[in-house]
Amino acid sequence: MPVFRSALLRFADDGTALYDADGLLAVGPDTQGRQRVLAAGAWSDLAPRFGCGPVEHLPGRIIAPGFVDMHIHFPQTDVIGSPADGLLPWLENYTFPHEKRFAAPEYSAQVAQFFVAELLRNGVTTALAFATSHPASVEALFREAQRHQMRLITGKVLQDRHSPDGVRDDTAQSLIDTEALIRRWHGVDRLGYAITPRFAPTSTPAQLRGAGELAARYPDVWIQSHVAENLDEIRWARELFPASRSYLSVYGDFGLLRERAVYAHCIHLDELDRALLRDTGAVAAVSPTSNLFLGSGFFDYAEADRVGMRYGLASDVGGGTSFSPFHTMLAAYCVGRATVEGLQGKRGLSLSPQHLWWQHTAGAARALGLAGVVGNLQPGCEADFVVLNPQATPLLARRTAQAGSLDELLFAMIVLGDDRLVEKTVISQAKYGSCAG
Ligand code: GUN
Ligand code: ZN
Repeated sequence: MPVFRSALLRFADDGTALYDADGLLAVGPDTQGRQRVLAAGAWSDLAPRFGCGPVEHLPGRIIAPGFVDMHIHFPQTDVIGSPADGLLPWLENYTFPHEKRFAAPEYSAQVAQFFVAELLRNGVTTALAFATSHPASVEALFREAQRHQMRLITGKVLQDRHSPDGVRDDTAQSLIDTEALIRRWHGVDRLGYAITPRFAPTSTPAQLRGAGELAARYPDVWIQSHVAENLDEIRWARELFPASRSYLSVYGDFGLLRERAVYAHCIHLDELDRALLRDTGAVAAVSPTSNLFLGSGFFDYAEADRVGMRYGLASDVGGGTSFSPFHTMLAAYCVGRATVEGLQGKRGLSLSPQHLWWQHTAGAARALGLAGVVGNLQPGCEADFVVLNPQATPLLARRTAQAGSLDELLFAMIVLGDDRLVEKTVISQAKYGSCAG
């Protein structure tokens, strides 16, 4: 049974961080042979029971839960940093032309290999990812995640209108392909399927209806899409679906709002929209680097919390600018500060570093319906974790050495951290021992 001794970060059920400066993490196989956390806590409490055999001692390091990215596009790995005058021209001029290339299985496989390695290098151990409209892209990403025994959820993008040749799919065939992929991959090893309408403007009512029927037939399959990201997008969606109360309601009207439904952005919502998310159990994937890069707007944390809707953090690569959860958490903090500053008389928030970290680990897992499975290091969780080196750069070393509290330590890592902070990423294996980093 592997036992680690180092500083240890994990989360209580209420989202507060639990930190042991001298901690112990014991990991062992469950009945299926999957590595899970057996014990986590202070070394002094647990060593009598778990510290007698071989111990991997990691002085100066912090073991923390692997990060959970709630929304990322694997085929946009090479689209990062494509500037445009907002979302719609960005899709038309960069994203759709690039995604055409994923019709080729070899190209999909090559990008999938890089993408999964890049997630792991950045400490991301669970991801909900868009593929493209080509089933081959889904196959490629599932196969690569399976090779790493990574927990990954993806799906074939549904887009049967307002899309160029090469990415536009056929309504009936798209639903047949989706169901075949669900049956082939959902629940295999650590993989899950997500029914993936790109966004309402690029699907016909018939395609959305079919997606909703599949979502009802396969209730533990995820749903992922985009909503209320950009004002031009919202105007377009309202024109196309005039009978729906709001852009978000379009998805509800087609049976696409429920537990395990994840909507990227959720920026321009009203009170009824937020209540609809809360009441249906659908959640928001907050993507601050993307929102800043594309100039989409700011997620309103205060209103989300007031209404009680669930959310977590996401990179949204390639609208988003970084695979690094540290960059995403920092951007979320800056967005919180900027939110409604000077508007409606409200002041910006200071999201706490514990809350930011939780949103990208245990909070994101909870939003995905995976609480107690990933995103935390409490007993019973799958043993996905990162080993952080707070001395990874000269500035990190200076700043973290002066941290006088857990909040100061976490903030220093959020503000100064990137892939260099992640010394190792460990994935829960059916047979122990795979590391990346
Ligand atoms: N809306 C529809 N498609 C996309 C996409 O690929 N990225 C983002 N950020 N928004 C979208
Ligand atoms: Zn997206």
